[in-house]
Amino acid sequence: MPETKFETISLEKPNLEAITEAAEILRRGGLVAFPTETVYGLGADALNAEAVQKVFDAKGRPPDNPLIVHIADRRQLIDLADDIPQKGQRLAKEFWPGPLTLVVRKTFLVPDIVTAGLNTVAIRMPDHPVALALIEEVNSGLVGPSANISGRTSPTTAQHVLEDLNGRIDMILNAGATEIGIESTVIDVTVDPPVILRPGGLHKETLEDIIGPTQVSTDAEALRRSPGTRHRHYAPKARMILVRTGDVPAMRDFLKVNRQQGKSVGCIVHSPDLARIESGGFFRVLPAPLEFFARYLFRTIRELDQEGVDVILVEEVEEGGLGLAVMDRLRRASETH
Ligand code: TXA
Ligand code: MG
Repeated sequence: MPETKFETISLEKPNLEAITEAAEILRRGGLVAFPTETVYGLGADALNAEAVQKVFDAKGRPPDNPLIVHIADRRQLIDLADDIPQKGQRLAKEFWPGPLTLVVRKTFLVPDIVTAGLNTVAIRMPDHPVALALIEEVNSGLVGPSANISGRTSPTTAQHVLEDLNGRIDMILNAGATEIGIESTVIDVTVDPPVILRPGGLHKETLEDIIGPTQVSTDAEALRRSPGTRHRHYAPKARMILVRTGDVPAMRDFLKVNRQQGKSVGCIVHSPDLARIESGGFFRVLPAPLEFFARYLFRTIRELDQEGVDVILVEEVEEGGLGLAVMDRLRRASETH
C-alpha cells in the first residue's frame, strides 16, 4: 500500500479536484476515508468485492461483521434493496440524508462480503456535502464502516483516521471534526415492529413519532441479527469505569483508590457537581447539552489515551434521546478487557 494521501476540503470553497481524485481511487478499487455527519467512514466501492475485502483487511475487521452501504440518491436503492417495507420508506423519506441506517432485504448485486453472508443489507444516506459529492462522483454505493482499527473508538476527525490507518489506505478527505460524533442509528425494518439494532444519532423517540413503537434489541437478539455487535467496541487502551450521574462520593472514591494504586486517572464529566471536584489536564468537563458530550466523547477518550492514563472515569448520562446511544457506547467501552 502506498503512502496515504491527506487532502483538506474547505466547505466554503470545496476543492473539487480532491473529490475527483478520491472518486478515481475508489473506482479503481482503492480505499478513501471520508467525513460524514456522524463519524469518518472508510469508503470502498460496495459492488466491488475485492475492494470491500481491502476494507476488512485495513481495519482488521472480523469477517462476520457486515458493512453499511452509503448512497447519495434514492435511485441507488434499486440496485441494492429488494424490498423496502412501508415503515422503512417513511423513515427514509423523513430522515435521509441523516444519521439513520436501514436494514432491508438485499438484491443479488450486493456482494456477500458486504453483508457477511446475511440476506439483508444496511443502507444509509449521510448528511455531509463531501460524502454526498464523493458518492455521486463514483456513481456507486460506498461501504463505510467507521474509519478506525476494528475495536477502537470511532474517528471524529481526519487526524484520528490518520492515527489508525496511515499507510493502510490510499487517501483521507479531511473536512474537520464531525458534527454528531456518534454513529448512525441502525434499524431493522424487515420485521414489524422494527428493531433498533444500534442506538445512534437519530433518537428512538424521533423515529417513533413517524412509525410508532420500535423495539431495542437485547444483546442476545442483536447477536443473532447483527453478528458484529458481539465484537468488542470503542475500547480505549485505558480501563474505563462508569460513575453514576452526579455521584460525587463515588467519583472521589474511584479517584482515591486508583491513585493509591499508583494509577494515573483521566475523568470525563458533565454535571456541575462532578465538574467541581477537580480541574486540570486529565479532568475533562463536557457540560450540557448532551449533544456537546456526544460530539466530543470519542475525541476526549482518544486524547486521554494518548496522555497515557491508566484509568478513565466517565460520568453516565440520562438514557433519553441521544443518551441511549451515548450509554450504549460507554457500556461497550467499559466492558472488562
Ligand atoms: O454513522 C455510521 O453509521 C458510520 C458512518 C461512517 O456512516 N458507520 C458505521 O459503520 O458506524 P460500522 O461498520 O462501524 O457499523 C455498522 C453497524 C455494525 O454494528 C453492523 O453490525 C451493522 O451496522 N450492520 C451492518 N449491516 C447489517 C445487516 N445487514 N444486518 C444487521 N446489522 C448490520
Ligand atoms: Mg465501527
